[in-house]
Amino acid sequence: MRKLTNIMVTGGAGFIGANFINWLFKGTDFSGRIINFDKLTYAGNPESLKAVDETHGGERYFLVQGDICDRAKVEETLKAYDIDTIIHFAAESHVDRSIEGPEVFVQTNVMGTFTLLDAARHYWGDREGVLFHHVSTDEVYGSLGETGFFYETTPYDPRSAYSASKASSDHLVRSYYHTYGLPITLSNCSNNYGPLQFPEKLIPVIIENILNERNLPVYGDGKNIRDWLFVEDHNSAVWEIVNRGKTGESYNIGGENEWENIQLVHKLCELMAEKQGKDKDYFKKLITFVKDRPGHDRRYAINCDKLKNELGWKQSLDFAEGLNKTVDWYLENREWVERVQSGEYRKWMEINYSER
Ligand code: NAD
Ligand code: DAU
Repeated sequence: MRKLTNIMVTGGAGFIGANFINWLFKGTDFSGRIINFDKLTYAGNPESLKAVDETHGGERYFLVQGDICDRAKVEETLKAYDIDTIIHFAAESHVDRSIEGPEVFVQTNVMGTFTLLDAARHYWGDREGVLFHHVSTDEVYGSLGETGFFYETTPYDPRSAYSASKASSDHLVRSYYHTYGLPITLSNCSNNYGPLQFPEKLIPVIIENILNERNLPVYGDGKNIRDWLFVEDHNSAVWEIVNRGKTGESYNIGGENEWENIQLVHKLCELMAEKQGKDKDYFKKLITFVKDRPGHDRRYAINCDKLKNELGWKQSLDFAEGLNKTVDWYLENREWVERVQSGEYRKWMEINYSER
């Protein structure tokens, strides 16, 4: 078990990072400090951490607005907070955006990860008990056919600028371990879902469009398959790896929960109909098959036996429970949705937050 004291969480105001920090304070016995280092791009929303800030802000929780590509700011933060652990979530994360504008993906995901690694190497030197954990994706492995799984040993075969930039960052992380002896761990996870996800990814897009009775865009034939995992189960896996994972190793994280996109959209239509008191099939009329995503990976499926067998991780929620919780969260948090979509939260942040 590692001793983790001052953890820099990059991208902690994003979907998974914010869920991670919230969960850490309420679901674990972690007693150290969290320094959330986040640029606050369109995807970063400090309001997602309001409760943690109110209870622990300035004592055990700190938000530093900074870009992981800004070496001076990264170095200053490592030093100011005596960081011993980095959990690196920050990234440009949306595949469709990487098709429209790949450059920022290379900048943040490749150069940003390099900057963090190199700053950590110089700051830590030979110090013991430090760790750089890199959060990555199953998309680095490419696309599966009808059978088979991604293993930790599957060769990388990224197909989008997003996955290529994540693959590149994974390679850099491993190179710092082999070349400089930087203590690292790495995780490659499947599709996450849950509260606080920016309404550009499939599940919140469908929930929001159902609520507004807008078309439900399904790319191509709708038969692409994703392996879905509730975000808190991703977080508990990352926490296990950071605490007890073997230095230098990669761990796959997955839900063992494969669905065709169209099956998932049907499920959401039925769940929303139940919650809105409509006929079971009422919202299905909104389903619209649209032009396919270029280079659309057909199927992802993770084998996470290594994580289960070596670290004893298991997921806590089944898909029906997880979807139900997620839909309820979006129904109950209309203000959050409106703010992230309107840009209002930036103003809210200027009023409510200052760097501590
Ligand atoms: P997100 O887009 O919701 O959040 C990204 C966060 O990073 C935001 O808070 C943003 O402000 C911040 N950020 C972006 N550029 C930055 C920069 N240059 N400097 C500092 N901060 C910056 O992403 P997410 O869905 O929470 O994903 C988090 C991580 O998990 C990513 O590394 C992603 O590749 C990985 N991942 C995501 C999923 C998924 O299903 N969402 C699955 C597997 C792995
Ligand atoms: O597998 C892990 C990856 O999962 C992460 O690394 C990425 O950061 C995360 O965004 C996610 O990538 P996907 O491209 O799989 O997620 P997205 O929600 O964008 O799309 C899920 C599937 O749904 C995919 O097959 C494309 C399809 N889709 C998506 C949207 C937004 C639609 O059919 N319609 C849509 O409107």
